[in-house]
Amino acid sequence: MRIYCEKDYDAMSRRAASVIAGEVIHNPACLLGLATGSTPEGAYKYLVDWYKQGLISFKDVLSVNLDEYVGLAPSHDQSYRYFMQSNLFDHVDIDPANTRVPDGLTRDAAAFCADYDAYIRGCGYVDLQLLGIGRNGHIGFNEPGDHFVRETHVVDLTESTIDANARFFASRNDVPKQAISMGMGAIMGAKRILLCASGEDKADAICRSVSGPITPGCPGSILQLHPNVVLVADEAALSKLTASGFKV
Ligand code: PGA
Repeated sequence: MRIYCEKDYDAMSRRAASVIAGEVIHNPACLLGLATGSTPEGAYKYLVDWYKQGLISFKDVLSVNLDEYVGLAPSHDQSYRYFMQSNLFDHVDIDPANTRVPDGLTRDAAAFCADYDAYIRGCGYVDLQLLGIGRNGHIGFNEPGDHFVRETHVVDLTESTIDANARFFASRNDVPKQAISMGMGAIMGAKRILLCASGEDKADAICRSVSGPITPGCPGSILQLHPNVVLVADEAALSKLTASGFKV
């Protein structure tokens, strides 16, 4: 695992954006695996900026997103489709037909999930998968449990995740209780993974994911088995790892 230790959120965002831009420049028709949440927002701002300066183009890029809340329409301002449109897709030249976010309103989740995985497989898997991490170590919405789930699937969100995401909704009760998430098969099938983290509240999850036992109790720990992971984090998110003597 290659680790970049950046000073703060902005430096982390710039570094993460440069890894994504590098992929797009070298492989213009790449399949990007994209993530939502507060972690990648800054990286997307840099990418939009660089697009506007004419430095990068997403004209031939394909994308698949990690997850979506069950029950939220694409037009809901907390849906992950809405997030992607407003943070990236609406501001760059990506072809809307080439962007995929799980459908939170699907009436046949099993068929939808199977199709999502078939699409990713059919593309030869993701070229660069962007990941944030939850305070409980989740990646995508693969929550801690007693086994890793391979396929795209519907997940029951944990109380900790609902608490963490309540800040985006009018009340905790409005936070959806389920999501559709890419599974570990699609994530681990990616040719390269870019894991990003910022802030002290991620320090424990990063420490356990990078140097703890590989266990579904900490879903991020599975990344230790992937041959090509880049971790871009700020000093606060790396603080527990460095304090444990791990050299970054
Ligand atoms: P965050 O979420 O980027 O909003 O902290 C990350 C995650 O829960 O995966």
